[in-house]
Amino acid sequence: MPLTGSLSPAPRQPGPLVRRHALWTRATHWSWALCIAFLVPSGLQIFNAHPVLYWGQESGFGYDNAVLRIMAVETPAGLRGRTEILGHGFDTTGLLGLSGPAERPQSRGFPAWSTLPSYRDLGTGRVIHFFFAWLLAATLALWFLGSLLNGHLRRDILPRPRDLRALPADIASHARLRFHRAAEYGALQKLSYGAVLGIVLPVIVLTGLTMSPTMNAAWPWLLDLFGGRQSARTLHFVAAFLLLAFLAVHLLMVLLAGPLNELRAMITGWYRTDPPAPAAMKGRDHDR
Ligand code: HEM
Repeated sequence: MPLTGSLSPAPRQPGPLVRRHALWTRATHWSWALCIAFLVPSGLQIFNAHPVLYWGQESGFGYDNAVLRIMAVETPAGLRGRTEILGHGFDTTGLLGLSGPAERPQSRGFPAWSTLPSYRDLGTGRVIHFFFAWLLAATLALWFLGSLLNGHLRRDILPRPRDLRALPADIASHARLRFHRAAEYGALQKLSYGAVLGIVLPVIVLTGLTMSPTMNAAWPWLLDLFGGRQSARTLHFVAAFLLLAFLAVHLLMVLLAGPLNELRAMITGWYRTDPPAPAAMKGRDHDR
């Protein structure tokens, strides 16, 4: 006899579909995703023209202010790729400094598969990079304007005291891979999206502008803000790698939280939330 009745829990119905992302949010999101897909590999092409980062105003052979250096060095075992970070050296053959087919390795900063174009072409790399850099700057400005006007910034991004109180519980449920599908962002989402949109992306755009001689003439305060063009270049690089780290976690979270529902929300705006909690659980569900 089938065991139906009061002992078996009733199957939970899917929760309601809610409108989660405004058109403005979705359009700007896909615009910066596209920009970053072109900016990162074209940026690595530009970096490869001089794969050294400095701190301060000066750069060159006469100075001892390199914080990162990627090179190929002659060793008793033959040519090797070597990366030095703050004076600590690592053998990075195959990835940084020396990469490519074993029979014809190339001495280059980042490998061919990570740069755009894959072959050495600084001119094309710069054209692609500057085009998408302006598109990213415009997208970011539009996002701020739209999000101020439609209340997205205040309502969904800026964390409130109750978000900060919910943070430890939100971290714990993420660590247990338990994702609560609610209409609003959780504490961790607000903080990470806020940090990316309010700090990392603006730092990338402003340090990029600091490296432009035209901008140095127009807005010399940028050089003071970032401690010179070489420091700005280093910060630009560090912020770009922070963005890549965010992106890796972001994509992992989208995959774990249910990619179809998450992607539908970022494309159409509609998001399937969790069913309402049963009465006995109400009050224990602290997330969001
Ligand atoms: C490439 C750089 C990317 C950056 C910097 C980025 C950043 C962000 C930010 C800041 C938000 C919140 C937007 C807001 O509320 O205004 C967001 C949301 C979202 N992103 Fe991305 N994203 C990127 C790429 C992607 C990609 C490639 C995917 C999918 C494959 C994706 C999927 C999503 C989804 C589904 C959301 C909504 C999350 C939710 O509602 O919980 N993102 N992203």
